[in-house]
Amino acid sequence: TGEPLVLGIETSCDETGVGIVRGTTLLANAVASSVQEHARFGGVVPEVASRAHLEAMVPTMHRALDEAGIALADVDAIAVTAGPGLAGALLVGVSAAKAYAEALGKPLYGVNHLAAHVAVDIVDHGPLPEPTMALLVSGGHTSILQVDDIGTQIELVGETIDDAAGEAYDKVARLLQLPYPGGPVIDRLAGQGAADAIAFPRGLTGPRDAAYDFSFSGLKTAVARWVERARAAGQPIAVADVAASFQEAVVDVLTAKTIAACRERGVTNLQIGGGVAANSRLRALAESRAADAGIEVRVPRRDLCTDNGAMVAALGAQLVAAGQPPSRPDLGTVPSLP
Ligand code: KG4
Ligand code: ZN
Repeated sequence: TGEPLVLGIETSCDETGVGIVRGTTLLANAVASSVQEHARFGGVVPEVASRAHLEAMVPTMHRALDEAGIALADVDAIAVTAGPGLAGALLVGVSAAKAYAEALGKPLYGVNHLAAHVAVDIVDHGPLPEPTMALLVSGGHTSILQVDDIGTQIELVGETIDDAAGEAYDKVARLLQLPYPGGPVIDRLAGQGAADAIAFPRGLTGPRDAAYDFSFSGLKTAVARWVERARAAGQPIAVADVAASFQEAVVDVLTAKTIAACRERGVTNLQIGGGVAANSRLRALAESRAADAGIEVRVPRRDLCTDNGAMVAALGAQLVAAGQPPSRPDLGTVPSLP
């Protein structure tokens, strides 16, 4: 076929990812994670992440090529996350991508990690309807984006003014003395608790608050206070109930605001991406509320929600197919890319 064969490299945080797509078809998605090396610190340690990327880069590349059954020389273009992310971590991926592109004489595309979280859905559910409203929920970002063109036109509709949703999960897990990363653990525990056990606050939902912005630091503090009070009173902490009630406060606001943004703008397609999109309650509540509002919702399968190389390759393939110009050979990292 004439569809572009694109290899994508992701190293913005703690996952070293190499993915390969042909057009909108996923051929390989190899991921090496340093998450366990960060666990005892309760969060990603940038220097540890950089060193892990350096060690994992070449082996992960080979795993992806084996999985796809192609040779490196077969690819039409190389895409890489240029930002946002940790400076040292990004540098490993960008340096590798530039070296491979230069050695092979192939075009290089530096891409936005956040747009890639949205674009990956294409390999799961086909071309993205435009416009699509995207809810991007990860450890570093929580944003509502209106996607008019995945390659060139994405508008920021709203975002968190403090903690990201995933960050809130990680911090609350820490308060509850649960392991890092907190999202998957709280997701699992919440299934055994009552979501209405504790009335935690819904951030920025007052009449004067920005309609599409989020705030999770007040919620985190409320959970901390609740835990402190229970401990001071010598009561056992009902961890499953705290997890379920906290989770409900997060996903209630995420889904309500995103669907309100869709309605106000007349956008009937919603895509949810980023690590927190793996959350079972978020997926269920978004589906039921979207159905009530006549909105089509798409969420990629779980392993495509967390950081990976396929998302970068998917966005790269869209850029190649749209005839976008490649990045310059002096492409740099942009840790605070908007
Ligand atoms: O997208 P991602 O892999 O990396 C960033 O770009 O940040 O997201 C990682 C975040 C972590 O905060 C993690 O706790 C959260 O996603 N996460 C979840 C779940 N799985 C991962 N949060 C809630 N529920 C989950 N099932
Ligand atoms: Zn991410």
